[in-house]
Amino acid sequence: MNEKYIPDEWKIIEEGFVPKENRLSESIFSLGNEHMGMRGFFEESYSGDSLQGTYIAGIYYPDKTRVGWWKNGYPEFFAKVLNATNWIGINISINGQSLDLAQCEVSDFKRELDMKQGLLTRTFVAKDAKGQESSVKFKRFLSMQSPHIACIHVSVTPLNYGGKIVFEPYLDGDISNEDSNYGEKFWVPIDKKSNEQYIVLTMETKKTAFWLSTATESKVYKDGIEIACERNVIEKEKYISTSLETAVNQGQEISLIKYVSVCTSRDYDKDELEAQATTLLKQALNTGYNQLFEQHCIVMQKKWDASDVVIEGDIKAQQGIRYNIFQLNQTYTGKDPRLNIGPKGFTGEKYGGCTYWDTEAFCFPFYLYTDQEVAKNLLYYRYLHLPQAKENAAKLGFKGALYPMVTMDGQECHNEWEITFEEIHRNGAIAYAIYNYTNYTGDSSYLETYGIEVLVELCRFWADRVTYQPRKDKYMILGVTGPNEYENNVNNNWYTNLMASWTLAYTLENLRELKIKACSHYLEVVDKLGLDEAETLIWKEINEKMYFPTVEELAIFEQNDLYMDKEQTLVSDLPSEALPLNKNWSWDRILRSCFIKQADVIQGIYFFPEQFDAGCKQRNFDFYEPRTVHESSLSPSIYAIVACQIGYQDKAHEMYLRTARLDLDNYNDDTDDGVHLTSMVGSWLVLIQGFAGVSVHENQLSFNPFVPKQWQGYSFKINFRGRDLKIKVDSGQLEISQTTGTPMQVVVHQETYQCSMDKFLVVPLNG
Ligand code: BGC
Repeated sequence: MNEKYIPDEWKIIEEGFVPKENRLSESIFSLGNEHMGMRGFFEESYSGDSLQGTYIAGIYYPDKTRVGWWKNGYPEFFAKVLNATNWIGINISINGQSLDLAQCEVSDFKRELDMKQGLLTRTFVAKDAKGQESSVKFKRFLSMQSPHIACIHVSVTPLNYGGKIVFEPYLDGDISNEDSNYGEKFWVPIDKKSNEQYIVLTMETKKTAFWLSTATESKVYKDGIEIACERNVIEKEKYISTSLETAVNQGQEISLIKYVSVCTSRDYDKDELEAQATTLLKQALNTGYNQLFEQHCIVMQKKWDASDVVIEGDIKAQQGIRYNIFQLNQTYTGKDPRLNIGPKGFTGEKYGGCTYWDTEAFCFPFYLYTDQEVAKNLLYYRYLHLPQAKENAAKLGFKGALYPMVTMDGQECHNEWEITFEEIHRNGAIAYAIYNYTNYTGDSSYLETYGIEVLVELCRFWADRVTYQPRKDKYMILGVTGPNEYENNVNNNWYTNLMASWTLAYTLENLRELKIKACSHYLEVVDKLGLDEAETLIWKEINEKMYFPTVEELAIFEQNDLYMDKEQTLVSDLPSEALPLNKNWSWDRILRSCFIKQADVIQGIYFFPEQFDAGCKQRNFDFYEPRTVHESSLSPSIYAIVACQIGYQDKAHEMYLRTARLDLDNYNDDTDDGVHLTSMVGSWLVLIQGFAGVSVHENQLSFNPFVPKQWQGYSFKINFRGRDLKIKVDSGQLEISQTTGTPMQVVVHQETYQCSMDKFLVVPLNG
């Protein structure tokens, strides 16, 4: 654990420059605006260790698969989001000496991310090899209002010299991915242009042939007044820059504003791409830095109005949850249904920027409770990928649809047999998200128009994937990996069987309802999918006769067949040097052990809280939690929520801490690769679904709140069926203020209350 960043309610602050922690800070200080994003690397040249990552949503490359032993069914490639043209770069030369923090004495270094405004600032004093001292300040934002636009503001004040400063703002397309499988570069140059108003660079990805045009222009100011500079264009094969030279006196501030526009062939035709990039750039130049920043802040404020969480009495907890919400809102805004949420967002290369089950199983509720249109787009994304999911199932010899474990464009691109072929529980999360949306919003239009097709194809997969076992007269699912990736090729993973069986039941129920409603789409679906009664009768039988392993003597669910045959030891029995197991034990030893990577049985209990009584939840929690090493950052939040349901408040808070500041405190010592975006949502899940106990049952919003004893209280905002609600909980009471929408009833600790815009609801809480 590394408590590097200074606690603050709205800011992430780093004081002092520690080169060996530079990659960590580059991850933490990442910015994004759904269309593009980047790590917090430096604008000026830096010869120290750095991962200069600039990513453009949806621009990927299918890198040829690299495995030791090829298995039939493996995808040919692993799609990865590409590190793209570096457009923030500004080389700075002071009397011929390049400003490079790796070569300077650095003092008063401060990096600050203002989460309210989405503004990254960096200030420092640098003394170069000639003894020249400069006070330098950078500011950068990626517009949330105009996602193709970004601005960088830099100012340099000579402290003990005068002379010549040359700024060289550039566009550099000669970029590679650190995770390239064969050391290949993925970009080829198409064009570059320069004139008196701008420079523009167009690059193309190999294989996928995406085009990316970046255009830039800079203005220079002396003591706040714009000046003309000597301007020279420098061109290399994949690089273009303008050098702007000016004389400066000691104590005189010289600044430069770099305006950038970033456009891709995903959004515009290739033959108009450059023109589009330059038009947007010109508009940005006309609008000017201050107004662009104001417009950006208005959108940021709207995001915070919808999704902010306030924690009273614990500034680190406050900073942690705001940071997590900030990164989620920076990465995915739901404007483009072709996009999704990669586990690292725009903050690193690991996981290739692809979509995992993390989206539906973890991130989905955050968007669902704060902006249902965004949530709907996430569902629609999977609908658009249904044809590829069917191809994927067919490739493995199955009917129906198997959604990929990892994907960029709908095709599977993961290649470890125990995950690609066996971690099929992911299909369950996709069905669950459709249920979650429909249950929360009461809006069945998605389900009726698109969701039902997805559900039918998922059922077809399960019906083909199960094995009938006549000796037990049960259906089983053999050869799978559950969420716990520390056991592979197991039979009857309880969680997988639960998700399969529930999907069949949920689909049948919806088909029945659509038929009763005589929904015109029902007939279309039946016709289009060739669905007949015989097929649905089989689904019914599988659902009724699904096998669920149990441990009778403990009255718990067995994680999978033979789990109880393993040597049963607890995490607390392990010497501390053994942890994390994935770094210290052989894979063979991990697989044979009873230790669990992440919530598995408890994940199922989390999804269906009403199906299991408190005793059942408690017995399973008491058994499985002490065996769980939480070596996936997705794990603690799920345990924390179930802990809340069984009254384990201290345990819930302890687990909450592991998710809330996972990256800020570099809990797993791996944030230098990028933040754990899809796990960050865990802190929001715990606060809303755990501590406040928010759920929707039979169309009623319900709360079971408590305040962890380490806090004084907390408040958050959600939108429920057209009503904006602000909920505040302290140890004495729950308050609900409704600012939009019609009156409704809410349930607090099983009691019903009336809530409306005219009535500020206060419910006393006992104890
Ligand atoms: C977890 C998976 C998850 C993936 C990406 C793995 O460590 O076990 O459940 O989908 O990370 O976050």
